[in-house]
Amino acid sequence: MEIAKSKREGELLNWEDIQKMKYSWNVACEVMRVAPPLQGAFREAITDFIFNGFYIPKGWKLYWSANATHKSGEYFPEPEKFDPGRFEGNGPAPYTFVPFGGGPRMCPGKEYARLEILVFMHNLVKRFNFQKLLPNEGIIVDPLPMPSKGLPVALFPHQP
Ligand code: HEM
Repeated sequence: MEIAKSKREGELLNWEDIQKMKYSWNVACEVMRVAPPLQGAFREAITDFIFNGFYIPKGWKLYWSANATHKSGEYFPEPEKFDPGRFEGNGPAPYTFVPFGGGPRMCPGKEYARLEILVFMHNLVKRFNFQKLLPNEGIIVDPLPMPSKGLPVALFPHQP
């Protein structure tokens, strides 16, 4: 709302505005921590190695799980608690928050996705108060996480 108030009537968002939306992005990151859009992905071992006492031969396919990593109490204290504050300062340790993967095959759409999410959030909050109609609606993962009942909401347009 602070950014919306700083704009003239009809003036569009620009890149600088997006960079200022730090708290909104922390909220979006916490959502992706709790319910990662992609559960994980595969890697192929390019050499034999030992991990946690397990011998992994070259050529094996390995599945890394964003979901399991994001729920680790070691890296995310009280992992079930929704807390955007986790992303303040330096944020989580490298390779512990991985909704977009990591390394050379990391998602190339990450910045575009960030832009789209923040622009959507901005316009939603700017135009409406909203209320979930099913406060305890669950999430189905099939294979992407989705609200189980389609996320019905009541929208209340802000007074002009
Ligand atoms: C919230 C939105 C998104 C999430 C959570 C997401 C997540 C991911 C993840 C986890 C991977 C695998 C990365 C890895 O193996 O390390 C991936 C790969 C990829 N993503 Fe995304 N993605 C998102 C949006 C997008 C968008 C908007 C685009 C394109 C405009 C995109 C294009 C790709 C492509 C092409 C790959 C394959 C990269 C490769 O294998 O080299 N993604 N994404």
